[in-house]
Amino acid sequence: MPGFDHPQDAVVITGTSSGIGAATARYLHERGYFVFAGIRQQQQADALTASVGRDANLLPVVLDVTRQDDIVRATEIVQATLSARGLRLAGLVNNAADEHLGPVEVLSLEVFRREIEVGYLGAVAVTKAFLPMLRSAAGRIINMSSVNGRCTFKYHATTCATKYAIEAFSDALRMEVRPWGMHVSIIEPGPIDTPLMREKLVEEFTRKLAEYPQDQLNLYFKDFAAAIQHVEAFVERISVPPRGPLDKLRRLINGQGWLHSPLDVARVIEQALTSRRPKTRYLIGTQAKLIHAARRLLSDRAFDRVLGEKVFDF
Ligand SMILES: NC(=O)c1ccc[n+]([C@@H]2O[C@H](COP(=O)([O-])OP(=O)(O)OC[C@H]3O[C@@H](n4cnc5c(N)ncnc54)[C@H](OP(=O)(O)O)[C@@H]3O)[C@@H](O)[C@H]2O)c1
Repeated sequence: MPGFDHPQDAVVITGTSSGIGAATARYLHERGYFVFAGIRQQQQADALTASVGRDANLLPVVLDVTRQDDIVRATEIVQATLSARGLRLAGLVNNAADEHLGPVEVLSLEVFRREIEVGYLGAVAVTKAFLPMLRSAAGRIINMSSVNGRCTFKYHATTCATKYAIEAFSDALRMEVRPWGMHVSIIEPGPIDTPLMREKLVEEFTRKLAEYPQDQLNLYFKDFAAAIQHVEAFVERISVPPRGPLDKLRRLINGQGWLHSPLDVARVIEQALTSRRPKTRYLIGTQAKLIHAARRLLSDRAFDRVLGEKVFDF
């Protein structure tokens, strides 16, 4: 039980209000880490602390990763708590993201800016702020990418560009911090059962994309109303857990996937925090591994046709 072997270990996690961030905060807390849970709203902070029984070893910290004043205040709180409790900062998990889907021509430039601002520049700013504390503990930096950080899909220009940026940033940083015994790992999950894959994907199509001019949407979706129904059906299908290995195989052959639990990601994050030889990249889930293998085997154009254009063909 690595967390319990290191009772002085603390971690900072961004974006812990829901999904993978919330699951990771609860899991690492359960494993004995002191968790600084970066969160944007008090109500969400209350819900997270209530979910762990208001234990003093999970401290919500107001942290919008696009706000420098939040970042400065968070570092002060973390530093003071580490000193007061005799803890070391064993890790930083850059998890926060604000993802959007849609055709490049249709999405506004603001959407592209926002996604990079949160998912990439936010991670850079938080990392820079915590680096001195991490260095003094030979701590680890764990950056949340995705299989989208290695393969590109239709309607995923903003998300994939953000994740590709996280990958390059992580690779450069890994080389730079090695002299201090530090390590940087990249987490690359396939589809995970979180609000992002359920409500937000549907909301994106039903509300956000629908706000764009109909004639622009018509260029990409023959029938936008039908596309919404396809998205809803897609989310419903992948939300049903596979009934066993045969069902998994059938779904893979049919090009239908399934969602993995956020807990699977949390466990991998713990491995990246504690392993003697942490990997540079952790691909999570059968689908992510297969998609990545296909990307390596196929030419750009073949990948486009076989997977890139098909997976989200609404
Ligand atoms: N779900 C998947 O299938 C999947 C697959 C691969 C990778 N990922 C990655 O996993 C990470 C977590 O995603 P998720 O699926 O758990 O989605 P999620 O439930 O939507 O979580 C996103 C988190 O980021 C936070 N956030 C958004 N903007 C922020 C900002 N400006 N500052 C700080 N926090 C902010 C959100 O907080 P608010 O509630 O305040 O908005 C939320 O806590 C992301 O990096 C995502 O790209 C997810």
